[in-house]
Amino acid sequence: MADSLALGDRRLEALDHAAALVAHAWAEFDQAREIETLPSEQLLASLRESLPEFSSDVIKGLDDASAVLDASLAQARPRYFAYIGSSGLEVGALADLLAHSYDINLALDAGAASRLEAQTIDWLGEFLGYPAATGSFTSGGTISNLTALAAARERALPGSRAHGLGGHRCAVYCSEEAHYSIMRAAELLGIGRDWVRPIPLDAERRMEPSALAERIDGDIHDGITPIAVIATAGTTLTGAVDPLDELAHVCERLGVWLHVDGAYGLPAAAVPATAHLFQGLTRADSVTVDCHKWMFVPKACSAVLVRDPRALFDVFAHDEAYVPHADGVLNAVDITLEYSRPMRALKLWLAFRVHGAAAFRQAIARNCEQAQHLYSLAADRVGIDVLASAPQLSIVPIRSRAPGCPDVNAHNAELCRRLQADGRVYVSPATIDGEVWLRPCFTNFRTTTDDVDLLLSLVETLGASCRDHG
Ligand SMILES: Cc1ncc(COP(=O)(O)O)c(C=O)c1O
Repeated sequence: MADSLALGDRRLEALDHAAALVAHAWAEFDQAREIETLPSEQLLASLRESLPEFSSDVIKGLDDASAVLDASLAQARPRYFAYIGSSGLEVGALADLLAHSYDINLALDAGAASRLEAQTIDWLGEFLGYPAATGSFTSGGTISNLTALAAARERALPGSRAHGLGGHRCAVYCSEEAHYSIMRAAELLGIGRDWVRPIPLDAERRMEPSALAERIDGDIHDGITPIAVIATAGTTLTGAVDPLDELAHVCERLGVWLHVDGAYGLPAAAVPATAHLFQGLTRADSVTVDCHKWMFVPKACSAVLVRDPRALFDVFAHDEAYVPHADGVLNAVDITLEYSRPMRALKLWLAFRVHGAAAFRQAIARNCEQAQHLYSLAADRVGIDVLASAPQLSIVPIRSRAPGCPDVNAHNAELCRRLQADGRVYVSPATIDGEVWLRPCFTNFRTTTDDVDLLLSLVETLGASCRDHG
């Protein structure tokens, strides 16, 4: 089998070895390691080698791949608090191995796999409390938002997918702190980034419904077509949830599509303690939720759900000689932006099957409790600033303000670098109202309260040691 691409008689040995490497990684994620492993010079040199022409040992190849992963920043580690992490849920990783082994393509009807995807969309809608008529799994929040806004554009300007915008001036509306993917969608859909209307925020950094209504009224008066309002259910910067019910009211009065970008925060709609923040969700025309964020499964697994069964079909369906529509039956590709699609649904399906929805609710609630815990501890500390209002979800911006520090922004930027170099926790910086903050975010089911306490104590001790900076 020297010239074959199959593993042949090394197959079981390779599988056993891969399983041992995975088990080692999982064990390491259970308990935070005290220091990050940096790539050695030898490892970096190997990553500059040219294309191998001939075969080499599979076990050695797996070990080398594992060494690269081990020297990389893994979001699955319990003290990774940067950006919006994920957890690489174990059964999710196993589902990926299975799905990739069968390599099913969900562009067309793939038999049972297509039914499983539909069932997982139903389960996800049920979990979130959103009446999804249909939907699909995508590669991320960026593509889910683009998909929903494409449907909104076709609804607002029927035929625009064929004829273009025909000189119509159009606008979309979102909070000043909406994710950049909304800009990107406006650029790609021909609406134009300059027509994204940033709506001012209230004291809790949520979109102001009265300012929204005023802006849309003004635009309609000026002959501008409103395409959609994008409410953010969990902003990337602070985790603020826009007031969905009030925004839905504005949208229904003016006949404008309401999309909820819940890429990060929407899973908290399923949790009793936070469900009230999402009141009005059922009135949205479409929603985005990234299962590879707070549903813990490995990337890439986002979902876009819509209430009207025709909405996605109207913008994506098409007839090609090489894509048969036997008896008018729809293909998945008639409601998706992507063509070839892997079976992303399997990891969420298996995770729901194995752990049950209750375990997800508990893990999400625990992350929110950790955020409240950090907020109240930090608020009591001299020399640590917190935002005026408590976290709505699981993002807790904090800022070190040691006495005598000449430049608080430079101090916090340096502190963030030192925390990252120290390696015990990993946080990212963020600019809020022109100030540099540390922005921990809790979206990992492995994180413990001790991990959160360690974060605060490191901010204090490293903050004191670099207070003269700036
Ligand atoms: C609110 C929000 N929307 C969209 C996205 C984009 O998601 P993705 O990175 O999966 O494309 C993010 C990413 O952090 C986000 O926080």
